[in-house]
Amino acid sequence: MKITVETLRGFKGVRPFGALTAYDYPGARLLDEAGVPVILVGDSLGMVVLGHPDTTSVTMDDMVHHLRAVCRARPRALVGADLPYKAYETPAQAVRNARRLVESGAEYVKAEGGREILPQIRAILAGGIPFMGHLGMLPQHVVEEGGKYRMKGRDEVGRQRLLEDAIALEEAGAFAAVLELVTPPVAAEIRGACPRLLTVGIGSGPDCDGQILVTHDLVGAFPWFTPRFVTPLARTGESIRSSAQQWLASLATRA
Ligand code: KIV
Repeated sequence: MKITVETLRGFKGVRPFGALTAYDYPGARLLDEAGVPVILVGDSLGMVVLGHPDTTSVTMDDMVHHLRAVCRARPRALVGADLPYKAYETPAQAVRNARRLVESGAEYVKAEGGREILPQIRAILAGGIPFMGHLGMLPQHVVEEGGKYRMKGRDEVGRQRLLEDAIALEEAGAFAAVLELVTPPVAAEIRGACPRLLTVGIGSGPDCDGQILVTHDLVGAFPWFTPRFVTPLARTGESIRSSAQQWLASLATRA
């Protein structure tokens, strides 16, 4: 049966769910066959697939192209997509771009930020589009912050800001929020304070309603960088290298 936002809501307080990123047809099909309930076409696309140093070069056209490929797998999973950098500067632009993602197959959209993008979030939700927030370390802002992927919520000001942002997202009607690199006690506090918001942690400890990872990190498909909080469960990059080497060697023996 198709996973919906309502299915996910049913997981709250019952069992944690997993979410992974996909950027193409085989990626989505394999995750779906594995039973992953939530797929995100993340703008991490820019780094792990398109070779950019950060996510800020990703465009709406990039997102649509990869989202369409993912949707061709017709996943049972709930499929969503990121609004990329500068694609939600105003409420009108946010709704226009969110609609474009929905027309390309997204069943929810995600954007980074809290109260500072509340008018955009409200406009997306008023357009009938399910919304997932993203709080904590915001990759689209990491360049502005000096290029460091830092943990958030370490001091009282940071803790309070995160808590208030999460409550604002919940009150606006977001069904979920990614908590990226949020200190585990603050992630746990947000989960307790927001009974109608599914918290989806990444590098934020175990006390979240769900966990999300970039699939390439989980399977070692981008071996040049692995975040500290991920233990890869496969070495896909190594397999590709050694398969190519074995094949080249086999050609040499035919000479
Ligand atoms: O872009 C992405 O893949 C994400 C996840 C890491 C949450 O935002």
